[in-house]
Amino acid sequence: MAKLWGGRFDGQNESWIDAFGASISFDQKMAAQDIKGSLAHVSMLAHTGIITAAEADKISAGLNSLQEKLAQKNLEFTVENEDIHMNLEAYLAAEIGPTAGKLHTARSRNDQVATDMHLYLKDVVAQLIPKIQHFRDVLVEKASENVHTIMPGYTHMQHAQPLSFAHHLLAYYEMLTRDQTRFTENLQRIDVMPLGSAALAGTTFPIDRFFTAEKLGFSQVYNNSLDAVSDRDFILEFLSNSAILMMHLSRFCEELILWCSHEFQFVELTDSFSTGSSIMPQKKNPDMAELIRGKTGRVYGNLFGLLTVMKGLPLAYNKDFQEDKEGMFDTAETILTSLDIMAGMIDTMKINKEQMAKATESDFSNATELADYLASHGVPFREAHEIVGKLVLSCLKRGIYLQDVSLSEYQQIQDVIGPDIYEKLSSYNAVKNRHSYGGTGFSQVEEQVKAAQVQLQKE
Ligand code: ARG
Repeated sequence: MAKLWGGRFDGQNESWIDAFGASISFDQKMAAQDIKGSLAHVSMLAHTGIITAAEADKISAGLNSLQEKLAQKNLEFTVENEDIHMNLEAYLAAEIGPTAGKLHTARSRNDQVATDMHLYLKDVVAQLIPKIQHFRDVLVEKASENVHTIMPGYTHMQHAQPLSFAHHLLAYYEMLTRDQTRFTENLQRIDVMPLGSAALAGTTFPIDRFFTAEKLGFSQVYNNSLDAVSDRDFILEFLSNSAILMMHLSRFCEELILWCSHEFQFVELTDSFSTGSSIMPQKKNPDMAELIRGKTGRVYGNLFGLLTVMKGLPLAYNKDFQEDKEGMFDTAETILTSLDIMAGMIDTMKINKEQMAKATESDFSNATELADYLASHGVPFREAHEIVGKLVLSCLKRGIYLQDVSLSEYQQIQDVIGPDIYEKLSSYNAVKNRHSYGGTGFSQVEEQVKAAQVQLQKE
């Protein structure tokens, strides 16, 4: 088959080599964006008098008909036409004849493909932001129901101090809020139009890039044509933001997996987010949480893949760039679905409040309470720490907890200790009394829930 760029070539291309060079198997995901870009370009060509209004009408009608066929899944793409740009141009020629050849005036596939990717990521981020918001909503809703749910807080995976479960959920709300901000900021770099840079140096035709940008809904155009066709920072930023987002989701998933285990039994995921075992009839596995944790690996891989492709590439376009797409598509699809799964999983999970609270009752996570009690009665904190450390050691030897130590023993250790120590040692009170800003105290957490609700309302 004759190539659109075949004029300079004598020899026949071999199909297996064509297949190696082709990107149509994946870049057809941007068919709608490609047609949109062409429609804007063609109306600019008419607006500036580069082609006639009649020609523009004919080309636009052809493009609109391709748009319809695409929506009805009536377009079949071929490897011979290499990529989405040439496949669509070939279809346009079949549809309207030689006038189709005028569409590529003052344009190159280099600025065209970059424009398609900017449009594609704009669409992805537009779907992404509401999904992040929905997940944040679910977190805040769950938090509002669990302000008084007590759980062990961990450092080094060891019981550290008791927490309000809502506080734990709101920590993820904060992470997701930062993620959302990062993607919103990313949008500033995505929302820039490369079209009109042509191959690398601009064009001799009197084009109007600002007209095209307005048609396409871009708020800016690239200032430098070389940068425009060879910039992939906006994709790297998207991949990097996605990697951070997935890192957050995978940390949460890791906790869910632990919490579902027989040892913890803090939560139970609903059947729809769990799977069974083909051999062990009793199993209910948190597969979806494990998969999100696993998919984080491919999202990191996509970031490192593109960073490595870009490293050392000279200006301007190089075919290496064709390798920028699959990772971008894969990451976009992965994060969009992972957010849906996460929101559904958290929204429907059963929280075993008693089990969580129980886990804070037979441990030493109230040791800080005793040290703080001493310190607030005038014992220097370092000394208090030493006293409590020794007492914990002695309790461990005797198989008892701090709440089991008698008042007379306490008073022998330090005469400032009164009978009010026992209420201070309860995990509920340990949480309640942490009033410091950003701490786990109920009053603080209630404030944080309210602030989050107001924030979500505002968005
Ligand atoms: N399929 C190509 C890509 O994805 C489109 C641009 C081709 N440009 C070129 N000069 N060969 O990068």
